[in-house]
Order: sequence, then C-alpha cells, then structure tokens
Amino acid sequence: MIPITRLSVGEAEAAAAADAVRSGWLSTGKRVQKFESMVAEYVGAKHAIATSSCTAALHLALIAAGVKPGDEVICPSYSFIATANAILYAGATPVFADIEPITYNISPAHIEKAITPRTTAILPVSQIGLAADIPAILSIARRHGLKVVEDAAPSLGAMIGKERLGSLSDFTCFSFDPRKILTTGEGGMITTNDDEAAARLISMRAHSASVSAIARHTSTGVILESYPELGYNYKLTDMQGGIGIVQMSRIAEIITERRRLADRYNTLLKDEEGIQLPYEPEGYFHVYQSYIIKLLKKTQLEVMASLAKQDIASRRILAIHLEPVYKDTNLENSLVESERASKEAILLPMFVGLTDLEQDEVVRALKIALD
Ligand SMILES: Cc1ncc(COP(=O)(O)O)c(C=O)c1O
Repeated sequence: MIPITRLSVGEAEAAAAADAVRSGWLSTGKRVQKFESMVAEYVGAKHAIATSSCTAALHLALIAAGVKPGDEVICPSYSFIATANAILYAGATPVFADIEPITYNISPAHIEKAITPRTTAILPVSQIGLAADIPAILSIARRHGLKVVEDAAPSLGAMIGKERLGSLSDFTCFSFDPRKILTTGEGGMITTNDDEAAARLISMRAHSASVSAIARHTSTGVILESYPELGYNYKLTDMQGGIGIVQMSRIAEIITERRRLADRYNTLLKDEEGIQLPYEPEGYFHVYQSYIIKLLKKTQLEVMASLAKQDIASRRILAIHLEPVYKDTNLENSLVESERASKEAILLPMFVGLTDLEQDEVVRALKIALD
C-alpha cells in the first residue's frame, strides 16, 4: 500500500528524544524553549508558545483573543473537525462561512456576510499548505474590531509575498501531528506578537500557575505558587521538543521536496480531463502538506475505492457542519462550495520519502480510476 503519509524521522530525531530522556527533565524544559525560539525566528513572530496539540493551541489562542461563552466565531466548515471543536471548547458558537472553490480556503466576502453583533473573532484555516487570504481577513477584522486566530495547522512555512504565516494574524496555530510539515508525534505551537497575551498563554498551558515548574525545581528556597485563573495542562514534553529541534533544522529541505513532488504530480496529471489540479495564487508560496485534486467526472467514492483496490491510500476533507456533532448548528450561510469540495475533492499520497516510482504508481492507478 502506498500510504497517504510516511514519517520522515530518523536517527537524529531518535537521539534527540533519547537525550531528553537521559537529561533528567522530561516535561516542558529547555528543549521546548529552543524549539519555540526556532519557530518564532523562522516565521518572524515575537513569541512562539508550544502546546500539546494544535487543537489545544486553538483553544488557548481563542481565550487569549478574548472569546467568551456566548460569542460567535467565524470559521470554515471545510476543515478538520478540531477547527470548530476548539470554538466549542471556548464556550462560543462556530458560524461557518463558505470557501473559495479554487483555493479551498475561507472566502473573505462570506466572512463579511457572517458577522453579527455577537462575533468576536475570525478563525480562518490556511488549509493543506496554502495561506488563506489573511491580508483581506485582517482588514475585515480591523474594520469590525475582531481578532484573527488563524488555524495554520498544515501550513508551517507557507508565505504571502515575503511574509510567513505566523507573523500576520493576531494568533497563528500550527500542528506537529504525523501528517503535518514537521512532526513531534503530537504537538502544536501558537505564534503571536502580543507580549501580554504570550505571557498569559505560557501560564495557561501549565494550569495558569503563577510560577513555572522549572522555576520551582531550580529554586533553592521555598516557592509557593498560586492559580489566578482557570488553566489547562497543554504542555509539550522535552522529548517532543528535542524531536522538534531536529525537524526544524530540516524544514527548508522538507518544503523543497514537497514542492518538487507537487510539481511532478502537476506535470504527470496536466492532461487529465476529469480533474482540477491544485492552485497556487500569484505571490503565494504553497508548502503542499497535501496534494488535492477535484474530481470533475467520477464520484469521490468510485475513485477512492478504485485507488484502495490498487493499494493506494487517499483521503478527503470534511464539511464539518454535516457531522453529527454539529447537527444543531444554526446554518444561515450557504456552504455550497464546502459541501462540493468535501464530496468531490481527494488528497493523494504526499510526503518526503515518496519515491518517483511510487508517485508514478499513484498516477497510473489514478488514471485507471478516472477511466
Ligand atoms: C486544519 C486543521 N486544524 C486543526 C488540526 C488539529 O491539529 P492537532 O491534531 O495537532 O490537534 C488539524 C490536524 O489534523 C488540521 O488539519
């Protein structure tokens, strides 16, 4: 079977995790701190705060953005379920806005239509490696006094012009799960330029204790901490931090290879009539966490079943509002393009380590499936 992803971690990552185990400090420590500064510097943000997952990052970032129970937060439906779940965790209501059919990212025009007096934040997703139109979204947010908490889970390294995601929105959240650009097994990161919010996020991810565990551990005196607000246990371990440092040192090579593979798919599939290829708008830099095609003739189920029979894995992306958890959501906005993409688009195998031979095999199988 050619899987949808295969991990690109090796001896250096194993040694980094083992070093952390031998160091005597396993929870959030100096490896996590170094990983955080590498990500902050890379994306061009003042602060990066590591969390146990991107879902946890989104939850904390929404709280730091001032989202309160009863508020509305605008997000796309065409995403992973965690995007909307994080809004529910914050006690707010997700209000779904439709996507642009060629980028698969949330439409600024639809965001504008979905704003009500209860809206406090916009949660755009920079999906599958391509930045959403963050400048347009920020301009809407500024006009309406809203915060932007960006879900860039799959898109570390993606750029608009010369600016990397992570430096633009009020808060940007990344994921390090095994299918993302970098992996630490599980893990997430929030980047922000807001000093006060960064301090609060660091505290909230560790139960909101007034003194960190490491400060207490390294103190020779007695330190009694207090808990000024509700906090969470969303810490990343130092084993994961060690793996993250090694992965960050490889990010340029990882993105170059993903772009090469995407280019190669584009060339091999350019004459195929039954599909729409991925799109990289002018001035945008796509990091191709996933390679997406829209099926114009055959159904998704037919093509996915044929690929599976030929030992090729494929996936689709949800329309969250159609999932049972969200069945009671008040849907006032048209989500036609989200539903269409979730029924018509599929993701093909895409990972560092996919060989040209394997990629040829995927293309051969796809052509049979489309025939
Ligand atoms: C768009 C999007 N948002 C959020 C998440 C959640 O990330 P994590 O698994 O790190 O919580 C994912 C990952 O699967 C994702 O693809």
